[in-house]
Amino acid sequence: MQSHVSIAIDGPAGAGKSTMAKMVADALGFSYVDTGAIYRTIGYFIKLCGISPKDADGVNRLIDEVNIRVEYDADGVQHMILNGQDVTGELRTPEMSDYASKISAYPAVRAVLLDVQRDLAASRSVVMDGRDIGTVVLPKANVKIFLTAASEVRAKRRLLELQQRGDKKSTFAQVLADIEQRDERDRTRAVAPLKCAADAVVVDTSALTIEESAAKIRAIVAERLGK
Ligand code: DC
Repeated sequence: MQSHVSIAIDGPAGAGKSTMAKMVADALGFSYVDTGAIYRTIGYFIKLCGISPKDADGVNRLIDEVNIRVEYDADGVQHMILNGQDVTGELRTPEMSDYASKISAYPAVRAVLLDVQRDLAASRSVVMDGRDIGTVVLPKANVKIFLTAASEVRAKRRLLELQQRGDKKSTFAQVLADIEQRDERDRTRAVAPLKCAADAVVVDTSALTIEESAAKIRAIVAERLGK
């Protein structure tokens, strides 16, 4: 029996998933689960261990040693705890995006993180964003949304986000190339690739403002949840 409500928001990098997921979570009083941060935490651990994300054997050897916890502070903000230390501030860099995308292709990594994500959804009502939430992690989610936008639009948004965080080095061309490469890798991996669930509602935000996207998503959630 499913006692908690779950909302899955999947899509490629920079489609606005986290902004929309946070908005829905706040409105409904649910927890927002950023599953990308969980993959990034493994990526960060691999980096700390001096292992290349391309070294499948090295990553597979380490994955059983890692202790990852997802915690929420008093404001409901997600924190990633790696072997007892809060590493949340280290995760949102272009380097960790690349690490996360590479290590997320390994079946052993996905298997460990599948339990972490399902345990969270079993303990509370969630809005979870990622790549395979509606297809693999929570195939019975009450609402599934596939959020997408043209890669140029996503790169523009991602660059702005990086610049707002003080990044003065990244360029549009570089961010666009990174996004396209990451999408390709996430879409073509053998296990749990990025794809739209058959029963997801597709929302293309290329020509929409944040407010317009939010209104669309609110309407889909209200219709699906009957509230
Ligand atoms: O959402 P994000 O950009 O923080 O995700 C970083 C990488 O992690 C992404 O390129 C692929 C991987 N990821 C995944 O494979 N499955 C998820 N549910 C979430 C992220």
